[in-house]
Amino acid sequence: MQRTFILFKPDCVQRRLVGRILARFEDKGLNVVAVKMLRITPELSKQHYAEHVQKAWYPTLEGFITGGPVVAAVLEGLEAIRVVRDMLGATNGLNAAPGTVRGDYSSSRQMNLVHGSDGPEAAQREMALYFKPEELLAYEPTITKWMRAADEQ
Ligand code: CDP
Ligand code: MG
Repeated sequence: MQRTFILFKPDCVQRRLVGRILARFEDKGLNVVAVKMLRITPELSKQHYAEHVQKAWYPTLEGFITGGPVVAAVLEGLEAIRVVRDMLGATNGLNAAPGTVRGDYSSSRQMNLVHGSDGPEAAQREMALYFKPEELLAYEPTITKWMRAADEQ
């Protein structure tokens, strides 16, 4: 089992797409183990996007990500980090494949609706940035036995 951090960005909240996109992840079989709505501060943005702070386009990214409320969440499932990244599609919505979240709903390089952790280290770091350990709730859905075979771990 793996956990990944996702963030419904301000464009996603403003366009009222949070429910529809969260439903895609639920439909896929991922467990929602934490959800929180918040407004990202410039300080949190710099921590979240530490790898991009020096980039020429970072200031516009910070303006965008702090420009309205977001919804942070943690999803759990087999290979969750890769599965979610595959479901999100390429960074630029114009290049993202049809059927992916960004391919279906975004026509922008910046306003691409949802962030997903890009690896185990990033997932740990990002979950800790947004959630306290006790805010992550583990549970076993009773439908699991109809979602995959018992030996698929
Ligand atoms: O989110 P992802 O890992 O696919 O892309 P990234 O290259 O790590 O960039 C992080 C985020 O910065 C993107 O999701 C875009 O919202 C934003 N971005 C931007 O505003 N301008 C760019 N030229 C590239 C990315
Ligand atoms: Mg990235």
